Amino acid sequence: MDKLTVHFDDQPIYDIVFSESFDDLSQVLADFHLSSRRVCIVSESRVAGFYMEALKDVLRPLAREVVDFVFPEGEASKNLNTVQKLYERLILAHFDRKDLLVALGGGVVGDLTGFAAATYLRGIDFIQVPTSLLAQVDSSIGGKTGVDFDAYKNMVGAFHMPKLVYMNLSVLKTLSRRQFVSGMGEIIKHGLIKDLDYYHWMKEHREDILNLDLKALAKLIRRSCEIKRDVVERDPKEQGERALLNFGHTLGHAVEKLENFTMLHGECVSLGMVCAAFISRERGMITGEMYEDILETLKAFGLPVALETGNLEMDASDVRGIVELDASDVRGIVALDAREIVDTTRLDKKMEAGAIKFILLDPAGHAVIDKTVSETELMAAAQCIGGR
Ligand SMILES: NC(=O)c1ccc[n+]([C@@H]2O[C@H](COP(=O)([O-])OP(=O)(O)OC[C@H]3O[C@@H](n4cnc5c(N)ncnc54)[C@H](O)[C@@H]3O)[C@@H](O)[C@H]2O)c1
Ligand SMILES: [Zn+2]
Repeated sequence: MDKLTVHFDDQPIYDIVFSESFDDLSQVLADFHLSSRRVCIVSESRVAGFYMEALKDVLRPLAREVVDFVFPEGEASKNLNTVQKLYERLILAHFDRKDLLVALGGGVVGDLTGFAAATYLRGIDFIQVPTSLLAQVDSSIGGKTGVDFDAYKNMVGAFHMPKLVYMNLSVLKTLSRRQFVSGMGEIIKHGLIKDLDYYHWMKEHREDILNLDLKALAKLIRRSCEIKRDVVERDPKEQGERALLNFGHTLGHAVEKLENFTMLHGECVSLGMVCAAFISRERGMITGEMYEDILETLKAFGLPVALETGNLEMDASDVRGIVELDASDVRGIVALDAREIVDTTRLDKKMEAGAIKFILLDPAGHAVIDKTVSETELMAAAQCIGGR
């Protein structure tokens, strides 16, 4: 069993444990004193169907009582209504301050459970059992929790650290290919902003990674967690360096919104990374070859490098935006104007005193914050991903 420890003010706060099953969890929880604590496993319909029973089997012998709370899968559930139902469940099951929540699922479950844990009785403990690639390398680490409010993403939230992040890497076998590839967007980002050797390693091990070889996944996920951990340890409240994790997210978020969340987050980050790499190349911060290499790598992992209108495969889980959509509302990927991409970017919250906080590569493997990106550069970048 391999682990990483996350510190805050030089004090160890929680461990991130890597395993190939749920079996090591009992050992990891040995000093959690569960025999006197109630546990509520929070999950959503799809993930619960695969893993709820296995997790209960591990927790039942350890805990005073194990209950569950399962909500419909998808971003459309990540809101205060679901949190309210969870509070009701906890109150009716007599949960008190010393009891524990377990988030079993992707980022939606992790964010919502963490927020409920931060607020129920002014804060109770929770642990993360992330099941999507994105949740394993990104959302389960760093203590950001929250829910959407109407059409506003992550509008209500709190910083609340988990007591443990436990990853069973085998659960990725049931994740859809498209969700897995989307998670790769954030992972390739980690290499580009912090560690070019890691980026090259990924390229060399692409087949093993895409075939979900557990050894390759263990190395991949551990290194990404380490990169995210190092950044959040140095900047826990997002006042400085943590902004580097937004590489690819500035124009990426604009595309995500304009496409009404029918594209997955990592796909939009991929487009945003192409834009940021384009500006970095135009400014001479990365070479033309490196720019081409980034595009080739994203494509090799199945990520888009330009808007591919209309032709993405989608299943029910992929088409749920913030607000529940009817099947008839799903229109696939639509063409966008460069102008609307840039205008939407300007409206995004990452603006500071009128200037967009842009993350560029200087050079690849080392990201920097830049507030001088001009209108002309933004328009050219939006055009390079196919904005009209
Ligand atoms: N807190 C943070 O720092 C942070 C960072 C990034 C993203 N987020 C949030 O994370 C959310 C996105 O996370 P996500 O991509 O994991 O979304 P998600 O939780 O909706 O999971 C994506 C899909 O994969 C399915 N799934 C998950 N694990 C599975 C498994 N093992 N087998 C089969 N299916 C599985 C889910 O049912 C869902 O359909 C967003 O709400 C975003 O705002 C938070
Ligand atoms: Zn992201």
